[in-house]
Amino acid sequence: MTSTLVDNIGLLVTNDESYGALTAERTDAAVVLDDGVITWVGDAADAPAADTRVDAEGRCVIPGFVDSHSHLLFAGDRSDEFEARMTGEKYAAGGIRRTVGLTRAATDAELAQNAARLVAEMRAQGTTTVEIKSGYGLSTTDEARSLAIAGQFTEETTFLGAHVVPTEYADDPAGYVDLVTGEMLDACASRAKWIDVFCDDGAFDVDQARAILNAGKARGLGARMHAGQLGESDGVRLAVELGAASVDHCTFLSDADVDALASGNTVATVLPGVEFSTRQPYPDARRLIDAGATVAIASDCNPGSCFTSSVPFCIALAVREMRMSPAEALWAATAGGAKALWREDVGVVAVGKKADLVILDAPSYVHFAYRPGVPLIHRVL
Ligand code: NIG
Ligand code: FE
Repeated sequence: MTSTLVDNIGLLVTNDESYGALTAERTDAAVVLDDGVITWVGDAADAPAADTRVDAEGRCVIPGFVDSHSHLLFAGDRSDEFEARMTGEKYAAGGIRRTVGLTRAATDAELAQNAARLVAEMRAQGTTTVEIKSGYGLSTTDEARSLAIAGQFTEETTFLGAHVVPTEYADDPAGYVDLVTGEMLDACASRAKWIDVFCDDGAFDVDQARAILNAGKARGLGARMHAGQLGESDGVRLAVELGAASVDHCTFLSDADVDALASGNTVATVLPGVEFSTRQPYPDARRLIDAGATVAIASDCNPGSCFTSSVPFCIALAVREMRMSPAEALWAATAGGAKALWREDVGVVAVGKKADLVILDAPSYVHFAYRPGVPLIHRVL
């Protein structure tokens, strides 16, 4: 075991709730890491000795990003759809079926290589925990192999057999729900921590979503949901009612949805890259925060609605377009993401937590929004 002292930290963001403040910042700080775990946090002047030293040279240090929503198991490209949207075409759920065809035709090695490339991109941009969904296989074999590959990269794997109804079930959506909740779930449950459903126009309705999430919960999976992306729907309240860890998108919310999110335990995860890439209105994160809901920010990296792997880009959008302060956006992308994955060991810099630290090439995290598009990650520990 080798201990490492990170000192000369100009600004340390801890997100440590015991300090009371949101991002709980401290200046002139130091952190000691040992065997992947944080063993000491405090004033640089009091730092204990360690085997090696990392000099942060006055930079800002933050917890690694916890990206709680991504779809990295796919093949192919849909840049033509993006291009059409930029000249007025609307985003529709149906595009998912194009990626399903390409994903089914790809080899395991091709899928793994594509996912590895995207995970590396994410890490270079400060992401140290990532959730990865299946959802472009939509057959028992293709969903199961997607989850097996996802498991090579993260323990946060999500079974999304209910992404859309695949073409071969177009005339029998009920039959597809039976498949998802039956044979497909049997093959996938042991490979996933979570079950997800896309509850929106062109995907699954509220009754189908309830059946799918309940079937997953009965097999020990935690529930999460895509809802409110394309219009208001009862899906958001269903997610809260079923005790889902998170309901994601939340672009269109009624007052009743906001009330439910404020009083329940479900995190509202916003995905600002999606609104950027689909030219939709941005969700009003301020409304959610002011009502008392817990808000997370994630990338939703996928080939259709949003092909960015960059949490810093999403933070910049959330600050500029969703009325979040830089501190709220940083919290949402770190501690908020951890809450959306029911993780206590990441998103926070405190003794006993995982040693996932990011040293910025900036004196403050405010620079994510102040200097949008600029690579600001100095080093990921
Ligand atoms: O989160 N909304 C559903 N699923 C993805 C989009 C998938 C696609 O268009 O390929 C999303 O936006
Ligand atoms: Fe998604």
